[in-house]
Amino acid sequence: MNIKNIFSINLKWIRAFLLLFVSFTYIDLEAAEEAPCKDYGECDEFKHSLKDMSSLQSGASTFLTYCYGCHSLEYSRWNRIANDLQIPEEIFFDNLVFDPSIKPGDLMAGSMSKEESAKWFGVAPPDLTLVTRLHGSDWVYTYLRTFYEDSSKQYGVNNLVYPGAAMPNVLAALQGNQQLACKQVPVIAKNGGEKRDNSGNPITKEKCGFLSIEEGTGSLNQEEFDELIYDLTNFLTYVGDPDKVERERIGWYVVFFFIIFTTLSSLLHREYQKDYH
Ligand code: HEC
Repeated sequence: MNIKNIFSINLKWIRAFLLLFVSFTYIDLEAAEEAPCKDYGECDEFKHSLKDMSSLQSGASTFLTYCYGCHSLEYSRWNRIANDLQIPEEIFFDNLVFDPSIKPGDLMAGSMSKEESAKWFGVAPPDLTLVTRLHGSDWVYTYLRTFYEDSSKQYGVNNLVYPGAAMPNVLAALQGNQQLACKQVPVIAKNGGEKRDNSGNPITKEKCGFLSIEEGTGSLNQEEFDELIYDLTNFLTYVGDPDKVERERIGWYVVFFFIIFTTLSSLLHREYQKDYH
């Protein structure tokens, strides 16, 4: 066997090994992605709209009113947000910034000391600047809508997406009392059809874990509440990547430039080639 053969055998093995490795990693990733929203199952889909200023403004207002007391956005600055969201600085500071010692160029470092809050909640409320990058916007959108009453927990609530979360349900007054309910669902037979008893009535079994809001307990109805959370998640998506809209706009110019440049240079190339023939 000469050296060439040894190499070719080795290459075959290396290639097979790499293929196996890649496919195992892929299977592993697939498994890890199972039920990304935990007890809720698949997260609800969230499509951002980062050019919708009124949605972003309403999200910023909800955040500063209900969340900023506990959560910082420490990689953002006050005046950057006011400018990007097209809110005149004066109106922004008069209406949404509650601490008069804050200057427009300050970072949004939060109003709570990390040690104190860790004592109160057992865990300090994390900074939320990059939360949509960390978990995805779908996750955040679903998480904020899946708190339910659970008297065994410290704040009387639990969460389907983040079971055992140490966060109180701060929007309960808007959403109303959400509970886990049970309902009768048809039993499905092996052939995929509904099971029926001898007299033809469908056989049902009790299934629990459905979210249900006690009517009249919240100041918003479900649609309005979902919209509020949509705007809030949209704002957090913007905060996680504030240059996204601008980057995508410039990206189109770059693509356009490449098309023109490639066309011009290929024409030039053709001209030069003529001299050789
Ligand atoms: C009273 C304090 C408090 C308020 C107000 C509050 N949170 Fe929280 N939040 C927490 C704590 C504490 C945690 C950590 C939970 C844990 O890890 O168990 C948390 C966790 C989170 C997480 C999960 C972050 C992660 O990476 O795991 C998100 C998202 C979040 N909060 C969003 C919000 C939003 C949006 C608001 C406003 C509507 C808000 N929070 C208001 C205390 C608060």
